[in-house]
Amino acid sequence: MKTADRGVNVLIRTENHHDYKNVFNLHYSAFGNREDESRLIERIRKSDGFIRELSIVIEQEGLLVGHILISKAKVMNEQQEKEVLVLAPIAVDPQVQRSGIGKKLMEEGIRRSKELGFGLIFLIGHPTYYPKFGFKPAREFGLELKQYKVPDDVFMVVEIRNGELEKVKGELLYPEVFF
Ligand SMILES: CC(C)(COP(=O)(O)OP(=O)(O)OC[C@H]1O[C@@H](n2cnc3c(N)ncnc32)[C@H](O)[C@@H]1OP(=O)(O)O)[C@@H](O)C(=O)NCCC(=O)NCCS
Repeated sequence: MKTADRGVNVLIRTENHHDYKNVFNLHYSAFGNREDESRLIERIRKSDGFIRELSIVIEQEGLLVGHILISKAKVMNEQQEKEVLVLAPIAVDPQVQRSGIGKKLMEEGIRRSKELGFGLIFLIGHPTYYPKFGFKPAREFGLELKQYKVPDDVFMVVEIRNGELEKVKGELLYPEVFF
């Protein structure tokens, strides 16, 4: 999808293997010169939970300036196991942060996830950034997270199919590649 933003050429598209190096470097610099997120992406790409269409990049004037990855996880309880999505990570080039690129990636990621028929997207993230995209504290809906010890307000979920939060209860399980 190509759009012209105040005269700036912006392209949002599915990541391909030519992007891998740029995506690695992008997360490395956005996360303060640490490799953890870039390495996580490499592991997710090789895993069963990877969904090609949900690894999305954004280019501005031909340069890769943002990336979001949404992949599969599970919510389990004694009666059921339900496939859900987890959003991790998202990064925008530090030189162009706060110009709406993160918002575009979030909206496109959510739109595609809906289109693919998923019901819930979870994340662990900053409690002031994600609520504008519909994310709410997940524990309020009978959803639990034990793998990461995080406060209630950073463990969030958004319902992308009506009624899903009513139906799905239990513990969110991130796949092994996250650890
Ligand atoms: C989080 C991130 C992806 C947002 O991208 P962005 O393009 O800067 O976001 P947008 O331009 O759409 O939105 C900017 C707004 O979000 C807020 N915001 C940006 N990063 C934030 C953060 N980490 N926590 C809370 N709010 C944040 C800004 O204050 C800004 O609000 P304002 O417009 O009222 O000033 C980007 O800041 C980033 O790459 N951060 C480093 C990596 C990271 O922390 N990723 C998220 C964890 S997986």
